[in-house]
Amino acid sequence: MTDYSNKTYGRNAEVAVIFAMLKAGKDVSQHGPRRLGKSFVLDRMVEQAGAHGFICLKVEIAGCTEPKMVFRRLCEEITNHRSVGKSAISSIRQRLAQVASPRGEQAGPWYQSLLGVDWETYLERLLGALQDDPTQQWAILIDELPIFLKSLHDKGGDGIKQARDFMNLFTRLRASKPRVRWLITGSIGITPLAQAGQYMGVLAKFQNFELEPLAEDQAVDYLRDLAQSGLIQRRTEITEQEAQAIIKTVGWRAAYYLEALAQHLPARPETEPEKVQANIDAALAEMLKHNNKSTFGTWEEHLIKHHSDQQRRLSFAVLKEIAASETGLILDNLLGALGDPRINREDLRQHLLLLISDGFLYQEPMHEDSAPYRFRLTPLRHWWALYRPQSAV
Ligand SMILES: Nc1ncnc2c1ncn2[C@@H]1O[C@H](COP(=O)(O)OP(=O)(O)O)[C@@H](O)[C@H]1O
Ligand SMILES: [Mg+2]
Repeated sequence: MTDYSNKTYGRNAEVAVIFAMLKAGKDVSQHGPRRLGKSFVLDRMVEQAGAHGFICLKVEIAGCTEPKMVFRRLCEEITNHRSVGKSAISSIRQRLAQVASPRGEQAGPWYQSLLGVDWETYLERLLGALQDDPTQQWAILIDELPIFLKSLHDKGGDGIKQARDFMNLFTRLRASKPRVRWLITGSIGITPLAQAGQYMGVLAKFQNFELEPLAEDQAVDYLRDLAQSGLIQRRTEITEQEAQAIIKTVGWRAAYYLEALAQHLPARPETEPEKVQANIDAALAEMLKHNNKSTFGTWEEHLIKHHSDQQRRLSFAVLKEIAASETGLILDNLLGALGDPRINREDLRQHLLLLISDGFLYQEPMHEDSAPYRFRLTPLRHWWALYRPQSAV
């Protein structure tokens, strides 16, 4: 396993800032597009927690479809955590046994009997045990909270109520166990959900931490290390010049996409500008040769899963137009290209903001109508233009 603690791209400064926020009594929210590196930051927090006097539990809940599954995931995380000793688990269990039905030995893990109708009580007890731990402070890192809430909302009226109840329970537990710290992340907007479910108040109490893409020198180090560690096909070296060119071509300094392009580099490392460019062009062509759904499909999927029918139609139409232009489109040209009199200029501007916050587009400088909207990821623009994903509705 890589030791990221001495890597420039290891997000160590970000991790330190977040721990300082937690130590100052703040709970933190971290939002940003898929594959920006949010979960990576949480993993580093789990690793480094001890040095900051914390123990962190990372609870990935994108796959949970009902509230008590979150509680189960939390229990699993406690059990599997490297730094949670047997004695800590047994003292937590003891605490829970005060309310657990006094049954004898039973099959399954220790938390099995806690997942019945009364699971909320056990969750509260569990947090009480963490709260009262004299040796360390606990922080719970909830990864992809909005995706979980969305899956509840998608079940309809009852599900929305479940989401609201869950968030209210969350607020209550945060208030009654104030020494337990929380961090939530999200790849999709949580605000529309909170509005629909009327739990906006819950979110107001989190302090936002804005995770930025990697800095340029960090991205160069990352790419060169990848090759040196034998993680790039056909290569044990990526030159400084190639790394720079990859960064420029990808356009968004997220490790995932930098690596994805680097994997297609021709075998011979180059340093001369033209040859470097030829290598990068070849890598890009290779990357786009097949409909690389695993790399790019998540973007299409995002629109299908997380936009309403109406939003989705407009998103596909907008992205089709912008993908066709290398330098992007300004608002009025886009409006003209769409050629649909039902689309209002102001609504379009608002919609573009959504596509920016989803990570598809950027505009530089922002909010200036003379500045074009472009794809943030150049390879995604090419992919979109080539494979033309479409709205099914
Ligand atoms: N700073 C980094 N250094 C090395 N790899 C990274 C870094 N940030 C992200 N990655 C890798 O990129 C991929 C996507 O990152 P991830 O943290 O899962 O993104 P997110 O949670 O925002 O969707 C993962 O495989 C992750 O390990
Ligand atoms: Mg993630």
